[in-house]
Amino acid sequence: TDMPILTIDGPSGSGKGTIAQMMARELGWHYLDSGAIYRVLAFASLKHQIPASHEGALVKLAQHLDLQFELDENGLKVLLEGQEVSQQIRTEKAGNAASKVAVIPSVRAALLQCQRDFAQAPGLVTDGRDMGTVVFPDAQFKVFLTASAEERALRRHKQLKEKGIESNLSDLIAEISERDKRDSERKVAPLLPAKDALILDSTELGITAVYEKVRSYCAI
Ligand code: C5P
Repeated sequence: TDMPILTIDGPSGSGKGTIAQMMARELGWHYLDSGAIYRVLAFASLKHQIPASHEGALVKLAQHLDLQFELDENGLKVLLEGQEVSQQIRTEKAGNAASKVAVIPSVRAALLQCQRDFAQAPGLVTDGRDMGTVVFPDAQFKVFLTASAEERALRRHKQLKEKGIESNLSDLIAEISERDKRDSERKVAPLLPAKDALILDSTELGITAVYEKVRSYCAI
């Protein structure tokens, strides 16, 4: 399609969610947080007591996921079966649970169409791990945003603190590294920059500097 799409992929804590939301606001385009889909699916599987080993039931759950997103000035509100789960899905534990269901190829396949349906006029900004490689390979603009594991853990630590959630920095570094490893080494849709992506390392860059680089890449 010729729908304009900007994909922002990268590891957890790279700032891709923040940048993607800023760009969606700036451009007036739709926004898809694909990681939230995996987080909600993992959360729903706990809620409905479906173990990660029960692939068939997990795929069914993925196909019928009753999910709603609302983006406003406070960020992204996420509803599962009509109930707000925005806070619960943001913990590192929920992120780790998400990365466990995300390794299952049939689960990823079941979520493909639902993600592609977000590509609507006037355009889409999306963030995740495989937006530029698998879900939207023909996207016009692709960014791969990265940063060192220590820097990302530090950012996540601050972010959680602002939300009133206490966390231990060394635990965060360990959890983030474990999740990076799982996401990078899986066979299907591993965390990798698309060949035509702009690669940005934000370890030493503030959010405004990254935002300006992405804006000028998209020529706005
Ligand atoms: O981006 P976020 O940290 O919310 O993603 C949670 C997990 O969901 C990731 O660690 C990854 O395993 C999975 N994910 C994925 N593909 C995406 C987005 C997220 O596999 N496009």
